[in-house]
Parts: sequence; structure tokens; C-alpha cells
Amino acid sequence: NQPYQINEQGHVAIGGVDTLDLAKQFGTPLVAYDVSAIRNQIHHFQSVFEDNHVSYEVSYASKAFASIAMFQVINEEGGHIDVVSGGELYTAIKAGFPMERVSFHGNNKSAAELEMAVDNHVGVIMLDNFHEIEVLQSILHEKQATINVMLRVTPGISAHTHEYDQTGQVDSKFGFDIQSGQAFEALEKVLTIDSMNMLGIHAHIGSQIFEVNGFEMAAKKLIDTLAEWKSKNGYEAKVLNVGGGFGIRYTESDDPIAPEQFVDAIVKTVKAESAERMLTTPAIWIEPGRSIVGPAGYNLYTVGSRKDVPGIEPYVTVDGGMGDNIRPALYQADYEAVLASDPTKKPDETVRVAGKYCESGDILIKNQPLPATHPGDVLVMLATGAYGYAMASNYNRNPRPAVVFCENGEAKLVIKRETFADLVARDLTI
Ligand code: LLP
Repeated sequence: NQPYQINEQGHVAIGGVDTLDLAKQFGTPLVAYDVSAIRNQIHHFQSVFEDNHVSYEVSYASKAFASIAMFQVINEEGGHIDVVSGGELYTAIKAGFPMERVSFHGNNKSAAELEMAVDNHVGVIMLDNFHEIEVLQSILHEKQATINVMLRVTPGISAHTHEYDQTGQVDSKFGFDIQSGQAFEALEKVLTIDSMNMLGIHAHIGSQIFEVNGFEMAAKKLIDTLAEWKSKNGYEAKVLNVGGGFGIRYTESDDPIAPEQFVDAIVKTVKAESAERMLTTPAIWIEPGRSIVGPAGYNLYTVGSRKDVPGIEPYVTVDGGMGDNIRPALYQADYEAVLASDPTKKPDETVRVAGKYCESGDILIKNQPLPATHPGDVLVMLATGAYGYAMASNYNRNPRPAVVFCENGEAKLVIKRETFADLVARDLTI
């Protein structure tokens, strides 16, 4: 029951493609996605809604990994996307992604970004704060345009996850607070603006969450809020967007339920609570990022130098590191890696998989049992598909890796490896 494929040669395969061939053909460090795994996860989410007979949208949180090819896959699967910047929106436009299936998030969208969204007729703007309501109102007035909006609220639920990944507690920089009446005030304001069509409510309680309970509490809180709004001014929301955040397996010690099981619990709570509060069940939208692309992505590295330190795990150094995956350094995130040529070979030692970047914190894995490795061996790091490439940098002026999509035994380059020339392309002389 390994979280990766092994082919007839006994090598790790991704989407039916041998990882040693990938390393040879495209070089390392390399990011490789199993595209069927992406499609399957979307289908699993879709079936939960179908089985529960509710209207829904599965909106991919593209911050986890945005590229033209990725948006094309989501489009093929009939999904929505959520974007959080002009850059993500631009990528979606370039991918030919249908704009009516785009949600635009962000706690400080610029006027230029909002104009871009209005000009391109994005499906919905997620209003985050009072300043934004005003800026958008004046843009719509100037352009004589109308647009769908939803209110992002903070339901006052703090999820058990890394502090940087929590977003739903009262003290969050995102959204309107429910408790203090801020959210209702925003609703009243929006309802007076004819150019805004108020679709509903949105909340996202955090990321890499393992407990169903937090989602159920948030769903209940949101339905309570909708019931309160209805009784106060008659407004009935058509859409309830519960965000994303469904936790995934990174290492053996993680044991989450399947991402779609979180969604099943949310949907059942929303249905039950709506009935109890005499509300028509709203359409339920989810915004998963990590659970769609995380387990489907792999980073391939080539082993180089080694340093033995008496009494502690040796450093086995690879040709990438914190520039292509900042998560271990930034969040103390844990990962697993296997030897591409023989992933089930008995380990000989426990090593630290170190990166090539010039700082001591650049350790990709602190405790990795591995068979003896040699320079030139390829390591496959598992579950790197979310917030890996998306947060990549050019630290130390290292070019960012290439990205390939693997499916049905074929590999397709979807993002080219950066070159040294790319690195200096925008540099100017004094
Ligand atoms: N919707 C909203 C409004 C969000 O803010 C996020 C994530 C998502 C959906 C998707 O959450 P997911 O299903 O991917 O957990 N860089 C961090 C993660 C930051 C997530 C921010 N918002 C990491 O590498 O763990």
C-alpha cells in the first residue's frame, strides 16, 4: 500500500512513466505530476455532492499550483478555480479558462486587479473588507458593469494546524467578523449596491486540517449566520462556500481520512442544519487546493555530496532544496523520499536529506531511512504537489525546476526549466 507506483523494472513510476527516465529526459530537480491522480481527486469530490443530491461547485484553489496546463486540466474536468492575484487570473486567461467559473479572492486586491476581474467578467468576487466594497463599487459605476459577489467571513473557528495556515479564527486578517456584526453590516451595504449581485457567504478555516469536527462546526456556524440574516432582513443566500483545507498524507505518521470524507461531513451538516433552520439548502462550493494537487506531485532530485558527522544522521545532499520547496524550512513540514531505482529496498541508515542552498536550515527531510545512496542516484520526494513549485524562488540565483505532467505512460513538459539567461533577463546595468 505505497503512496506511489512501482513499475515492472521495480522503479518508481509517475502516471506510468519511469522516474529514472524522467530524470534522464528532463533533468533534476524536477516536479512531476500524476495527472490521473488530479482528475480522480476532483471526481471523488464531485461524487460526494452527486450522492448527496445537492448543487455544488468544486473550485480548485490555484494558489497550490497554478499554471496554464493545470488550468486546462481543471477545465477538462468541469471544475471552477479560485485565484488570488492578477497573476493567477492572467494565467487563467492565457489558459482559455472560462471566466464565469473563476472566483477572485484576496484581502487586498488592488484597484487594477479588480478592474481586470471586472473587464474579464469573472464569475464572482469574494469581498473581503469594507475598503474593497467601495473600490469595487466605483469601478463598476465607472464601467457601467455588474458582477457577482460573495462575502468572506471569519466564523471564529480556530483549526488545529500550523499558525500560518489558520485563517478562520476571529483574529484573522481575512474577511468580515461574524460575531461583532461586521459581516451583517457588510451584507446590508452590498444589498444597497445595484451593480453587485450578492450570491452568498464564504469561509475558509485553515489548511492541512485533519479534524472533521472543525469543518462541521464552521458549516453549522455559517448556516446559523444565514438564518440570522434571513430573519433580520429577508436575505437568502444561494451559495455557501466552505473553503478548502482538507488534510493530506505527507508521511507515514499522517493518517487522514480521504479528502472527500471531510466534504461528505460538511454536506451532511449543511443539509441537516438548513432543514433545522427552515432554510432552502444553498448550493455548496468547496475550494480544495492541497488535496487536489499535493499527493499527485513528486519532486525528483539527484544525490550529490555527503557529509558524515559523528553521532548524528549524515547529510545526503541533493541538487535542489528550499528554492523549490520552502515548506520544510518555513513550516517544519515533514516529507518522505524514496530511491527511484528501488523504493522498497531495505534501509541501511537514516539520513538528513539536505538541499544545496547556502543556509543550514535548508534541510528537506530531517529523518529519512534510506538504503546506501551514491552520487547520481535519483530520490523521489512524495506529496510535493501543493505549495511547492507555487512557492519556489530563485534564492541563490538557482533556476526554478521544470514541471512535467505524466499520464498514461507519457510525460509532457508543461513548465520549462528556468535558464541562467532567464535569471538575468530583467537585470539592468548601472
Ligand atoms: N480557499 C482559501 C480562501 C484559502 O485561503 C486557501 C488556502 C484554500 C482555499 C485552499 O486550502 P487547501 O485546500 O490548499 O488547504 N502555503 C501554505 C498553505 C497556505 C494556504 C492558504 N490558503 C502551505 O504550504 O501549507
